[in-house]
Order: sequence, then C-alpha cells, then structure tokens
Amino acid sequence: MDNSPNSPQPVDVSHIRSIGVIGAGQMGLGIAQVAAQTGHDVVLVDASLELATKGRDKLAVSLGRLVEKGKLTAEARDALIGKIKPVKGPEDLGGADLTVEAATEQLDLKLKLFKAADAAMKKGALLTSNTSSISITKLAASTSRPELVAGMHFMNPVPVMKLCEIVRGVQSSDQTIAMVTTLAQKMGKTTILSKDIPGFLVNRMLIPFLNEACFALQEGVGSPEDLDLAGKLGLNHPMGPLELADLIGLDTCLFIAEVLHREFGDDKYRAASVLRNLVAAGWLGKKTGRGFYVYDEKGNKLRAAI
Ligand code: 3HC
Repeated sequence: MDNSPNSPQPVDVSHIRSIGVIGAGQMGLGIAQVAAQTGHDVVLVDASLELATKGRDKLAVSLGRLVEKGKLTAEARDALIGKIKPVKGPEDLGGADLTVEAATEQLDLKLKLFKAADAAMKKGALLTSNTSSISITKLAASTSRPELVAGMHFMNPVPVMKLCEIVRGVQSSDQTIAMVTTLAQKMGKTTILSKDIPGFLVNRMLIPFLNEACFALQEGVGSPEDLDLAGKLGLNHPMGPLELADLIGLDTCLFIAEVLHREFGDDKYRAASVLRNLVAAGWLGKKTGRGFYVYDEKGNKLRAAI
C-alpha cells in the first residue's frame, strides 16, 4: 500500500470491532460494505429502521451482481450482509466503537446527528464524518468528545476507490488521528492527511475542475460528450468531468462549490449556472436517472440530456 509519508505510525485498533454508519445512501452503504468485508460488525442508521433495512437490502442486491459475475460467493455475500444490523436511529449506537457519519451534506442535519450519536456512544468511542466539505472542527465542537472527532472522507464508489482522506479538526488528538488512519488502512485504503480547510485536498482540486467543465459547457465550447472524451482520452481520467459529476450527485457538487465560494470568499469558486439549474430541476445525476446524461433504471448511460 502506497501510504503518504505524512501518515502517523500505525496503532492498535483491534478494539474497534463494531462500526456505526449513519446514512444508508451510496456512500454509507459503501462504507458499511468495506467495514463488514474487513471483519467489523456494522450498525446501520438512517432516518428510520425501515430506511436502514431498505439500504441493507439494496446492498445485498448490488453484491448479488458480484456473485453473478463470480467475484463473490453467495456464502460470502450472506456473511457480509449478516454483519450489517439496521437500527432505528443514532440512539442505537451505544455498542459502536467508532461511527462514520455519511448523511446528506447539510450542516444542520450533520450537527443534529453528531449530537445524537455523541449522546448514545460510549465513553472513548470515536466519532467521524465522511463529509466532503463541512468543517470537522464545527462538528466536533457540537459534541462532548471533540478530541475524539476526525474526518474519514471515502471516495465514491467506496469499495473500488483506494483512497481515504483523513481530516484533522482543530481539536482532534494525535491518538485519534493515528487510530482513524490505522483503521482506514485496515479497511484496505491508502490514507492521506488534510487540515480542516474547506474542500480538504481532494475536493479542493476536483470541484473547481468539474465546475470549470460546466462553465465550458454553458459557454458552448463543446458538447457534453466531447468534454468527457477530453477528460478520458486527453487526461487519462477514468471518467469525464460531467459523467463524474453525475456519479457524485449534482446536488453534492453544488453544495461543495458553494462551501468553497462562501468560505474562501473568492468568486473563482462560484458555481456555474448550468449546475444550479440542473439541481433546481431535481436532475441530480445517476441517482435520479438524469443529470448531464440520461440513465436507464440499471444506471447505464443512454444519451446526453442537455
Ligand atoms: N464491491 C466490490 N467491487 C466492486 C463493486 C463493489 N460494490 N462495484 C464494482 N466493483 C468492481 C467491479 O467488479 C470491477 O472489477 P474488475 O475490474 O475486477 O472487473 C471494478 O470494480 C470496476 O467496476 P466496473 O467494471 O463496473 O466499472 P469501471 O471499470 O467502468 O469503473 C469506476 C468504474 C470505478 C467508477 C471508474 O470509472 C472510476 O474510477 N471513475 C472515477 C471515480 C472517481 O473519481 N471517484 C471519486 C469521486 S470524488 C469523491 O468521491 C469525493 C466526494 O467527496 C465528491
């Protein structure tokens, strides 16, 4: 594994056996999958027991595709799903040794969930967020354990992407950073360390890139397909910028662009109006079947949408 030379020395994390995951969306389910795959019990939280159960069932269906492809045995899939326990809400996180919050990117919602998880979790348990841009320091300040809070920013799709960006809040202790770094590595990820500055490392680079592709599109510099071919064949990226924005979710891309714009106060980060308009229309990318492209119900790209 190609870890950053800035990573802290590994520490013992064998006591972290149960991992809470808040949010049964695409990121939360990916984190739950990787946690279970690496031998952890997972407590899965969403807005209700029904939604958490629905999330686990959705993961079982997606793992079924790996079984069909012969990449996973049906027994391994069943064992993995059996390690994931859907629960009613954050009040059921009492047994978790560490929680990763991966709810929608909304500060008020994350603050509410952090407070609830903090109240339920045992003393000494770690509380982390998969946020892509919200201040870890702010989230930590809402809890009674700010030194035990850090960012664990996984990439989408979590089971496939090799990176986990560790974010150090102002209050995070050295021990917390060492523990979450070691845990992410145990979950098979290469880690990098970022200060708690908007966008951290990955989105500080990525969102201006995706947003610039949106500006080029709205200025008519080229078609969506040609912009994406430029990214794929001209830059050797696995996906073009508009396809990637559709995968991440256009609402998430817009939210992060707005955080960068607001927090740095620099107009170079202002979001392109085509991005704003698609979000206003509810066309949020692959997850809604339409964004820059139209997708079929299996998520296959059909054609450009604009
Ligand atoms: N579990 C395990 N393996 C899985 C899996 C899962 N849930 N889903 C897919 N895989 C495996 C597939 O079986 C396949 O394995 P193989 O190569 O051995 O056959 C492999 O992963 C790739 O899957 P696919 O063949 O379906 O897809 P592609 O080869 O077309 O790759 C992709 C898809 C990995 C999404 C690739 O296009 C890619 O890397 N795109 C860029 C993604 C990216 O940049 N993500 C970062 C976004 S930024 C972010 O997340 C931060 C946020 O804050 C905004």
